[in-house]
Amino acid sequence: MNILIVGSGGREHAIAWKVAQNNSVKKVYCAPGNGGTAIEEKCENVNIEDINRLANFAKGNNIELTIVGPEVPLTEGIVDKFKALGLKIFGPSADAALLEGSKAYAKAFMKKYNVKTAAYEVFEDKDEALKFLKACEYPIVIKADGLAAGKGVVICENYEQAENTVIEFMVKDIFKGSGKKLVIEEFLEGPEASILSITDGETIIPFVSAKDHKQIYDGGKGPNTGGMGAICPNPYCTEEVLEAFKKDVMEPTLKGLKEEGLDFAGIIFFGIMITKKGPYLLEYNMRFGDPETQAVLPLMNSDLVELIYAAINKKLSQFELCWNNGASCCVVAASQGYPGKYNTGIEIIGINKANRVFAAGVKYEDGILKTNGGRVLCTEALGNTVDEAIDKAYKDLKNISFEGIYYRNDIGKL
Ligand code: AMP
Ligand code: GLY
Repeated sequence: MNILIVGSGGREHAIAWKVAQNNSVKKVYCAPGNGGTAIEEKCENVNIEDINRLANFAKGNNIELTIVGPEVPLTEGIVDKFKALGLKIFGPSADAALLEGSKAYAKAFMKKYNVKTAAYEVFEDKDEALKFLKACEYPIVIKADGLAAGKGVVICENYEQAENTVIEFMVKDIFKGSGKKLVIEEFLEGPEASILSITDGETIIPFVSAKDHKQIYDGGKGPNTGGMGAICPNPYCTEEVLEAFKKDVMEPTLKGLKEEGLDFAGIIFFGIMITKKGPYLLEYNMRFGDPETQAVLPLMNSDLVELIYAAINKKLSQFELCWNNGASCCVVAASQGYPGKYNTGIEIIGINKANRVFAAGVKYEDGILKTNGGRVLCTEALGNTVDEAIDKAYKDLKNISFEGIYYRNDIGKL
């Protein structure tokens, strides 16, 4: 069978690598893919991003299954489009993707179905928002309603900062529409965890927990990035936390999906914060996480294609999802300057000396691998313990070099 993977990041490389392990998979097309998927076994890149053209490509190339990585095509309705044409695709409908695409919608859903989450208010009027912010306690969290590439959340320490944020989001419109509506919510404290899960609309199965590292510098300092590395399992996700997560977050979410008629086969990624009062849901992402996927999938002993088919055929309740009992770590190498300005086109050396690399901002040009983005690649390693996985991932990364290579030195160190 032929599979199509939509997206171009490290997440998509990890998905391509994993599905290629299924013996019945002949070819994995990555649209547009990257320099890593260009040379991955069974993989071929196709330079298409437009949804209609992707559907035509799937029709014309015997694609039996399409897997979508990023949120943007999901919220734009790629799943609905493919399904209308009779094409098999894994991911949420545009309706369900709104749980990621609109924070106000997601919070209303959480409230309606008793999913444990921070108290909040929604504002569409600047003056109303400022009036509320004058009277509230600090710190407070302001979130742009729509997609903002991970930049739409600001923790405000005082009124001045909050006012400034409201003006940037609502008046200066820095997110081009996404910040016209705001969610203002209670500030929570505690370690965070990423719990990916798979659903077929009737059953939901959580994956092994993961921990992302969002800030650019060691110690969690500096601006947020797309994610600088991940470990799996997340050491804060004890049995007790996972039980509370299932009861207070995951199960009410499934109930809500059913009652709202949001029927789909796809991934739900729960971004939680483990507070003194237990796990709270911060956000839904209706897709695989990046870089969590690069750490989680290598630990999955089950076949991903079979798992996805079980979800599409509504047979998840009969699927026994198996995991390696060990741990995993991925460490991202970024271009100097990221998440701000950076150069591209720099030769990458030593990639063959690392055991497992998932490429992201990498292009393959005239037989040479070159940087092509902010987050360039990650090394990923398994171990019996998290510490062993961390050591191996860093050892591998030390074999790789490019001018201006930057990575955090504390991935997985708590
Ligand atoms: P979100 O996109 O909603 O997951 O928010 C992005 C990041 O902002 C989270 O990973 C947290 O670090 C932080 N954050 C979001 N909501 C809250 C909250 N209510 N309290 C404290 N930090 C938050
Ligand atoms: N790692 C967070 C995300 O994928 O959005």
